[in-house]
Amino acid sequence: MKFIIGNWKMNGNTEQKDVLLKSIKNVQTNNKIVICLPFTLLHGNDFGITIGAQDISEHTNGAYTGDISGQMLKDANIKYVIVGHSERRFYHNETNDIVKAKATTAVAYGITPIICIGETQSERNMGRTMSVVKKMLLESVPDYGEYIIAYEPRWAIGSGTTPSVSEIKAIHETIFKTLRNINRENTPILYGGSVDEENAKTITSVAHVDGLLIGRASLKSDTFLPIIKSID
Ligand code: PGA
Repeated sequence: MKFIIGNWKMNGNTEQKDVLLKSIKNVQTNNKIVICLPFTLLHGNDFGITIGAQDISEHTNGAYTGDISGQMLKDANIKYVIVGHSERRFYHNETNDIVKAKATTAVAYGITPIICIGETQSERNMGRTMSVVKKMLLESVPDYGEYIIAYEPRWAIGSGTTPSVSEIKAIHETIFKTLRNINRENTPILYGGSVDEENAKTITSVAHVDGLLIGRASLKSDTFLPIIKSID
């Protein structure tokens, strides 16, 4: 069983959501499918497909205009939330401390955080990928509760390029060993960044790749269903 998690980012509407979820419902799969939707689409018919959110406030409630609390997500029956996506780290200045606080809040409300980590192009060019990824990992995870890690090299997101299989293997092994050092060796580790139907099977065959976090290709059934069907 692999996790196949869609991240719709700031895309989609009710009609597109209904079309995609209905089409997923008709696919036979042993994988765990989750679609992380924009907040306005979290309510309504889920057609039996697991729905996730894309952010959670680290605060309980109160004067935080525009933010969404753990209680609100729980009330909407949300079981997964992406935290620390590189777009939130970049556009909203989310630090590892904030990501950890958000992940901790999610866990407190019974929601599994999908914690994103990954190096930038310049960090990669300087040969700092492993040290950056390890530091982000150790500083972003909560001290208790279950969570999922998504390794998403920032330069691979939306770019049509992915790391080589050997790079993915080396980085996922490093993440696995780092998690094992903190007694978290059962934590699922996903890969994300320009996943499509051409590369999904190869990437999920790599050791310690427990699933995929998929942006653009998760928006439509003609690009998302072939990925689900290619993995078992
Ligand atoms: P992408 O996005 O699949 O469009 O590269 C992945 C992500 O940002 O989670």
